[in-house]
Amino acid sequence: MSKILIVDNDEGLVHFLTRLFVKQGHEVESSNDGASSLELLRSEAFDLILLDYKMPGLNGLETLAEIKRAQIKTPVIVMTAYGTTETAIEAMRLGAYDYLLKPFDSEGLKRLAADALEVNRLMKEIVSLPSSVTKVLPAAHGLVQIVGSSRQMQDVFKLIGQVAEKDVTVLITGESGTGKELVARAIYHHSHRADRPFMAVNCASIPDALFESELFGYERGAFTGAYRTYVGKFERCHEGTLFFDEVGDMSMSTQAKVLRVLQEGEFERLGGTETIRVEVRILAATNKNLEKEVEAGRFREDLYYRLKVISIELPPLRDRPDDVPPLVNYFVGRFSEEYGKSVHYVADQTIQRLQSYAWPGNVRELENCLRRAVLMCKGDVLLTEHVQFEADRDGAPGPTTRQALVDRLRRRAADLVPEILRLAEEDAEVNVLDLVEEAIVDYALRHCHHNQVHTARMLGISRNTLRHRIQKYGLGPPDA
Ligand SMILES: Nc1ncnc2c1ncn2[C@@H]1O[C@H](COP(=O)(O)OP(=O)(O)OP(=O)(O)O)[C@@H](O)[C@H]1O
Ligand SMILES: [Mg+2]
Repeated sequence: MSKILIVDNDEGLVHFLTRLFVKQGHEVESSNDGASSLELLRSEAFDLILLDYKMPGLNGLETLAEIKRAQIKTPVIVMTAYGTTETAIEAMRLGAYDYLLKPFDSEGLKRLAADALEVNRLMKEIVSLPSSVTKVLPAAHGLVQIVGSSRQMQDVFKLIGQVAEKDVTVLITGESGTGKELVARAIYHHSHRADRPFMAVNCASIPDALFESELFGYERGAFTGAYRTYVGKFERCHEGTLFFDEVGDMSMSTQAKVLRVLQEGEFERLGGTETIRVEVRILAATNKNLEKEVEAGRFREDLYYRLKVISIELPPLRDRPDDVPPLVNYFVGRFSEEYGKSVHYVADQTIQRLQSYAWPGNVRELENCLRRAVLMCKGDVLLTEHVQFEADRDGAPGPTTRQALVDRLRRRAADLVPEILRLAEEDAEVNVLDLVEEAIVDYALRHCHHNQVHTARMLGISRNTLRHRIQKYGLGPPDA
């Protein structure tokens, strides 16, 4: 649940917005002019602010300027009437998260609000470094910790401390699940840019054009569906920090454009002629070997050297067994609280078992494993029988490993959703659910050479259901 502040003198709209967000489980407060909203903001913390431009007294931009002066990090979405794009862009320059042109559709608003709330979380949830290594139970919320007592992690902490304050680019490498994103966030929180925006972009598995419009923005009319000027992440992150996750997957053509921003500090929005200047600190992460990517001609050498001014390598968890006990304490403490359990002890044997496992999925896998273990635990001692490894899944998945698989699938699917929805937004007629279903069924059919029994099994649906889908989407075999 998040806390949202709506500032607008249009009572009808306030009522509408309040209902919309309360229905989503958020807490909403409102005020009808700039001055009283500033008053409220002095005494209460919010996760998102929706600010109208046209109000008696201070207008939206003046209010926004005051909010920024008070160093309030909460993202602000400015609402302006249609045809006042200039005001909207001015709002972005002043540090608004985004703007909405009235009248707006509630789906678009919900998506925008969800994005802004995620940025709010990244900016406010402080990732802290241990000062000394003792057993630490995390504070209830707003505090995430990078845990580790191994020599390797101590070196990492030192390095973070040294580079955070400097404005250098940092490349964070390591296998999946080793904590690269966490390190990026810790660097941000310990830098003097901590009160400026932090945004993350994932460079993998997004079509090029979409990714570039996300980064550089576009002008109205730049392509079909570009019905308004869109300000990209580079502009939003001016004087802030931009995190390129999975940077090894960035396409060559995007790399060239990004390099230009790094070197010259300038770019144009898609379809735009105005050159925009920005100053952004870049952090990047990858689980690929970028040197090899450069050799293979898939990654620009000049960009590689620009990114790895400083590099931080996170070792796999199997190479630092000393970190297992403190991580176990940390996660068990957290999940125990989260699920209202009272697991107070972890048996020595359990720790030994966890330390001798190879953790192909690294800390993320350990985290998931302990989440399940805490849920399974009946008493206050975590025993070996509560622990189950993903790699042990032989034959038919048991109930817990199956749950893990479903969780993983769900997470992966959820990762793709924002992009799919954003693409679909360009055409209101598109039925996204059908589109996605069709793509999945089509893929499975091809994969199984149109063998319906195999396809149905692969999709986990009955043959009858499959036949309906084939008919619905016209997915007969190629020669039929
Ligand atoms: N040292 C650590 N202390 C506490 N939690 C950690 C640590 N390292 C990783 N985690 C947790 O493990 C999970 C995975 O970490 P993170 O997302 O940073 O990994 P990653 O290296 O970015 O992985 P990927 O390459 O798959 O994106 C997160 O939930 C993170 O909070
Ligand atoms: Mg990551």
